[in-house]
Amino acid sequence: MECLNKEAAIVTGASSGIGYAVSEKLRALGYEVFGIGRDFGTAELEEEDGIHRIVCDVLDTEELCACVKRIAAQHRIRVLVNNAGVGYYGLHEELNPDKIKKMVRTNLEAPMILTQQLLRHLKRHAGYVINVSSVTAGQSNPHGCAYGATKAGLASFSHSLFDEARKYGVKVVTIFPDMTQTNLYRNADFREGDEPESYLLAEDVAGAVEWILGQREGVIVSDIVLKPQLHRIKRKPY
Ligand SMILES: NC(=O)c1ccc[n+]([C@@H]2O[C@H](COP(=O)([O-])OP(=O)(O)OC[C@H]3O[C@@H](n4cnc5c(N)ncnc54)[C@H](OP(=O)(O)O)[C@@H]3O)[C@@H](O)[C@H]2O)c1
Repeated sequence: MECLNKEAAIVTGASSGIGYAVSEKLRALGYEVFGIGRDFGTAELEEEDGIHRIVCDVLDTEELCACVKRIAAQHRIRVLVNNAGVGYYGLHEELNPDKIKKMVRTNLEAPMILTQQLLRHLKRHAGYVINVSSVTAGQSNPHGCAYGATKAGLASFSHSLFDEARKYGVKVVTIFPDMTQTNLYRNADFREGDEPESYLLAEDVAGAVEWILGQREGVIVSDIVLKPQLHRIKRKPY
């Protein structure tokens, strides 16, 4: 029996960064938010009214499917945000198969599986699939060849799904953020510049999600590119 009185949202990678900010935004907008992450140990996302912390590794396909089925059985899911992601950077020869697989599976495979699992449900509720890609999807990415490829793959999936699903009332949106101040670059030898104009905040991406959801029925914002005013990155000290 579905609990239809409140619309629900599923956000992957809700334990930090963009996913955390989007979860908080969705909660403020009145959604019952199911935030997926592996480790909420030091996470800012608190289990509180309207927020549920769902411990699940999106690479564990069986667990992921079971977990969303459970949520979908009891809630009217209106929004799916495919946000969880990992990045490894450097010369391609310096990556290893494990890191490459992790990026492909987290950034591309998991969103496709999660979307597949929820699509019929989202059709019933004229829902949104919001995919967090990256500006790297549309550019050449030396020192980030594999990461950029996963984000280009996600954008390709997202654009095709837009055309496939629009006639069923589903709204598929791709967000392309540029450098955002989060933990994503923990594995990188670079970080955002010092000036506040040289990076986005996770809250800026959450603001874009609010804008997407605020359009009148019948209008879809299919693609959003967010860039900081300045293009600067800094090498981390060794
Ligand atoms: N930061 C940027 O400059 C930037 C720019 C463009 C696009 N993006 C994209 O934005 C998305 C969010 O990244 P972020 O910048 O907010 O970085 P972040 O702070 O590192 O967040 C990544 C999130 O993904 C989750 N995650 C990673 N692997 C997971 C797994 N196997 N299962 C479940 N959750 C997993 C992490 O949670 P746990 O560790 O708890 O599992 C974390 O909550 C990513 O897709 C990233 O590619 C970021």
